Amino acid sequence: MGRLAGRVAYVTGAASGIGFACARRFAEEGAVVVGSDLNETPDWKEVAELAPASGFHVLDVTDEAAQTAAAEAIVAEHGRIDVLVTAAGIAGGGPVHLVTLADWQRVQDVNLTGTFLSAKAVLPAMLAQQSGSIITVASVEGLEGCEGGSTYNASKGGVVLLTKNLACDYGLAGIRANAICPGFIDTPMFRSVVDKLPYSDAIREQHKLGRFGRPEDIAGAAYFLASDDSAFVTGVALPVDGGYVAGHAYGVAKFFAG
Ligand code: NAI
Repeated sequence: MGRLAGRVAYVTGAASGIGFACARRFAEEGAVVVGSDLNETPDWKEVAELAPASGFHVLDVTDEAAQTAAAEAIVAEHGRIDVLVTAAGIAGGGPVHLVTLADWQRVQDVNLTGTFLSAKAVLPAMLAQQSGSIITVASVEGLEGCEGGSTYNASKGGVVLLTKNLACDYGLAGIRANAICPGFIDTPMFRSVVDKLPYSDAIREQHKLGRFGRPEDIAGAAYFLASDDSAFVTGVALPVDGGYVAGHAYGVAKFFAG
């Protein structure tokens, strides 16, 4: 029997990349998984085959009414919500003088407000249960700056602190909240950004393990944070980044790595 048997997980951004990998991993571990995204994906049948009670809501995470309705539907059908993963997100940024207010606002709306609304939607169920694990997907770019990161990094920095505040506010109710801060992970979003860059090798080299991440790398950390193995872990911003934020890489290590 899987380690998440009997648990009900809600994953936003579940049609693609990191969200989909988390949904599939949770289903492999025996959870009922309800996903949401702007559109459903034919790949969701992989999750449904692993966990037949699983379901999917087509919604925009910035739509408060839709988020509330989805959470209420999950409780009506499955009786509880044990785990939330907020993987819906978009890229965006540039040096500030080139960023339009509309682009700035769109990224904050989806990445930060969408995370806030996702947590807000599931909290009534978690408070009623006096248990839950909220797992936000921030970024290494929510922990430190980088060239051209302005808009995205600000949104993800906001996600990190929102998550820590959730941990402060709801720990006594048995609800944990942790942020995963992925390095660069090979997903459709990554390809839409990194494939266009002439300096993608320089980005890869900042990952001290010498490779970009895979969605499954993030799903493994999400599984840990969803499971009882992390029962005493809350308020953490966990880099899952191949060492990206461990320090600066100047290319010297290749001379002594063997
Ligand atoms: P992705 O583009 O493969 O998946 C993101 C999903 O979010 C898509 O299915 C998209 O339709 C959905 N989405 C976007 N806006 C939405 C909205 N308004 N409402 C509902 N769904 C919406 O991207 P990926 O890489 O899997 O990203 C997942 C999360 O991980 C994002 O929050 C991203 O910022 C974060 N992240 C990704 C990294 C990477 O290198 N891929 C690195 C660090 C963080």
